[in-house]
Amino acid sequence: MEKRTSAGGADLLVQGGQVVGESGPKRADVWIEGGRIRAVGTDLGAPASVPVLDAANLLVLPGSIDPQVHFREPGLEHKEDLASGSLAAVAGGVTSFCEMPNTKPATTTADLLADKFRRAAGRCFADHAFFVGATAENADQLGELEQLPGCAGVKVFMGSSTGDLLVRDDSNLERVLRSGTRRVTVHAEDDFRLSERYAALSAGTQVTQHHHVRDVEAALRATRRLLDLAERTGRPVHVLHVSTAEEVELFAERDLGELVTFELTPNHLFLAAPDCYNGPHGTWAQMNPPVREKRHQQRLRRALADGEAACVGSDHAPHTAEEKSKPYPTSPSGIPGVQTTLPLLLTAVRDGWLDWKGLLRAVNVGPRRVYGIRNKGLVEPGVDGDLALVDPRIDGTLEETWLRSRARTNPFVGTELAGWPVATVVGGRVVYRHGNPSGTTQGEPAGRPLTFGG
Ligand code: DOR
Repeated sequence: MEKRTSAGGADLLVQGGQVVGESGPKRADVWIEGGRIRAVGTDLGAPASVPVLDAANLLVLPGSIDPQVHFREPGLEHKEDLASGSLAAVAGGVTSFCEMPNTKPATTTADLLADKFRRAAGRCFADHAFFVGATAENADQLGELEQLPGCAGVKVFMGSSTGDLLVRDDSNLERVLRSGTRRVTVHAEDDFRLSERYAALSAGTQVTQHHHVRDVEAALRATRRLLDLAERTGRPVHVLHVSTAEEVELFAERDLGELVTFELTPNHLFLAAPDCYNGPHGTWAQMNPPVREKRHQQRLRRALADGEAACVGSDHAPHTAEEKSKPYPTSPSGIPGVQTTLPLLLTAVRDGWLDWKGLLRAVNVGPRRVYGIRNKGLVEPGVDGDLALVDPRIDGTLEETWLRSRARTNPFVGTELAGWPVATVVGGRVVYRHGNPSGTTQGEPAGRPLTFGG
């Protein structure tokens, strides 16, 4: 077994908590040794030298794996960087993340990928991986790039969003899918349709129209084209931030098994049009693909609860308040949410539309299955000692002062939640503690690259 250094508390006994497994919380202690979980149960017999973390009255969850975040480094650090983004992550119980390539420059080469790992070393609070962005230029190299250590895989933008990554046509998309073997991750909005829709925008169009501008048809067309190509090439694909009931029905009809997996965001699950776009901060809810009406939200919730959807990713996409206050459509799309995914899903469990198994699938089992992440798992012996300790008694409304992202434009501020992470453990080290009411302490940023192939 690989040993982490013991510096920073890589041995730890988490005592007296309610460990959350697929059938729900159960009283147990967790003994982490050398960064890995050695035993879970009562009367573990850990030596007295092992540091103890008191988890009385707390839920002990496996650390969340957020498979979709934008941490903006390099090039856009005024919005976020790897240190601030990963601090927000651990403050939300996220112990591993996969970061997107639409930075500046975009992550499209081996050198640029290596640069991200260099920047992350000693500054990231959570374990991490980075995606390589697909372009027409690098399509033929992607098979090699996706094999680089710590690479989460290839990300394709079929529709224009933040940044300039884009593979809009089927012939280049097919080249991407024929280059390599790992699951390809896709933002599926049809860029041809988007161009038409933006060109036809009349002056004065407001953000309240965002879900009509980037309409259901734009998402559905792209997803249909993608499924055709996945079937033709045999290449597994993962559709990010699915936003429409129609796409969920399409996945069910096409029934392509493991060839196609899909992901949901908390934004589409917990916000709904038109309400989310009303009020002075309407653009705070602006993202691509858009948050849509309640009927979509209801179908997406069912897809999560039933296990049709593989996982949940925050799509944490920070912009400054100043940028977000520009007039639509120049206001940038994106919602910062890495810190609020777990509390929102805990609220779904409390409200009865998601069970514990569904929550664990969303934030741990699912991301591991989609990307083949190794050494992570539920709170069981043999996996990395990554834990999120949640206080179910902190059930008030989300306060802005709790947020650790550089971006404070979180549309969930003021939402009533069913619990809040109060301590986060990565590899046996306590890296974050939530104080009272806003005082916090943090450990060393000792996150490491994720490994794949499981
Ligand atoms: O709303 C979005 N924001 N959607 C994306 O696809 C990109 C993201 C960002 O990076 O801002």
